[in-house]
Amino acid sequence: MGFSKAIITSGPTREWIDPVRYISNASSGKMGFHIAEEVAHWIPEVVYIHGQVLDDYKSPKGTKEISVETTSDMCDAVLGELAEGTILIMAAAPADFRPSRSKESKIKKEDGSETLLLELVKNPDILKTVSSKIQKEEIAGCCLVGFAAETDSLEDHAQGKLKSKNLDYIVGNYVGKNQKGFGEVDTTVIIFSSSGKTTKIGPFSKEVISQKIVAFLKGETEKSFVKS
Ligand code: CTP
Repeated sequence: MGFSKAIITSGPTREWIDPVRYISNASSGKMGFHIAEEVAHWIPEVVYIHGQVLDDYKSPKGTKEISVETTSDMCDAVLGELAEGTILIMAAAPADFRPSRSKESKIKKEDGSETLLLELVKNPDILKTVSSKIQKEEIAGCCLVGFAAETDSLEDHAQGKLKSKNLDYIVGNYVGKNQKGFGEVDTTVIIFSSSGKTTKIGPFSKEVISQKIVAFLKGETEKSFVKS
């Protein structure tokens, strides 16, 4: 069976501390962008939901673009686009926590205090929210693909997330402990499938890796993807 729609998420989300400061991460949006351009050659309707990505990664050809700010906004946008026969590829790096209260005025340094305590609360897990909605509302023909960038025990962490988030596939890769951010060097990924299959791709540039990930998903889902 084929998919009628794809949702690709990309880049970091932002959680505001006060009007001039936010919590975020170093995701550039490069992988999500290339995946979206590649998926546009495969699936008729592609929605690209992105956080604050670099300008070059804002508008993949052949996609509808939705720009969001926070993890909750991204979650709402994904839920709003979810339909029967959707493949969701969560390449975004949503912030896991947000300040419990975002201040209306700029926080000032207080004389004499060397510390600032910020209370953070957990954001929704988008993939978990989507997989429960699919189960609860019996939305047919959907496929969920997650990513896991890990510094240690890649297989254990990726397999754990595959199960806990109820995914069909998870794309895992190591991020070096001595590398800042997500890096621009060639990458190797391992795709873990819920069927137990493991597939290694790379090392290649992010552009080529994206093409190969999409080719893998296309091959797998077109030959055998039947989800109850
Ligand atoms: N993800 C999500 N919602 C979040 C955080 C992450 O849907 N609030 C998705 C990411 O887009 C990715 C997958 O979950 O596809 C794994 O993200 P990752 O940050 O590696 O995992 P976490 O569940 O946040 O776990 P941890 O940060 O503790 O490793």
